[in-house]
Amino acid sequence: MKKNLCRFNSVLISISLLLIISATTQAQEKSLYERLGGYEAISAVIDDFAERLFADPVVGKRFFGMSKDSRDGFKQKNKNLVCAVTGGPCKVISRDAKTTHVGLGIKASEFDIVAKHLTDVLNKFKVPKKEFDELMAIIAKLRPDIVEKEGQ
Ligand code: HEM
Repeated sequence: MKKNLCRFNSVLISISLLLIISATTQAQEKSLYERLGGYEAISAVIDDFAERLFADPVVGKRFFGMSKDSRDGFKQKNKNLVCAVTGGPCKVISRDAKTTHVGLGIKASEFDIVAKHLTDVLNKFKVPKKEFDELMAIIAKLRPDIVEKEGQ
């Protein structure tokens, strides 16, 4: 009887240890921000991404007439946004996506071009698939607030 009680106790201790280890591992899962390489990495991705948008023959037209200062502001706002939504220590400094894009008549095909540029840059920076998928899922959620003309 005493032996059985002892065995029961050691099983209980083993289970508790496993639960503690599993909880600690989960708590240590790094934020997407950290896994992307932190602010410097995000900043470099956005700089490259924004330059591709400005130079694009289709969506580049959307940014005609923007001064260097406005383009720099656009980059900074996007850096803060990505940093914040991935769990980083930044403050969102842009207005919400709906407010800033409504009335531009952005087509679904334009959103796809922008998403493709982001894909290309993330691949260039060798962002692993898991982090790539997580970031693209966050960006995809903004789609309904940005696209006004579906099916084009
Ligand atoms: C893919 C997701 C997108 C994100 C995360 C995004 C993010 C942003 C941000 C943060 C701003 C600055 C807002 C502010 O000034 O407060 C902005 C502005 C702007 N975005 Fe986007 N955008 C996206 C898609 C698009 C698309 C598809 C287009 C069109 C091709 C576009 C065109 C513009 C333009 C023209 C502005 C400047 C608006 C203005 O200053 O009047 N964006 N965007």
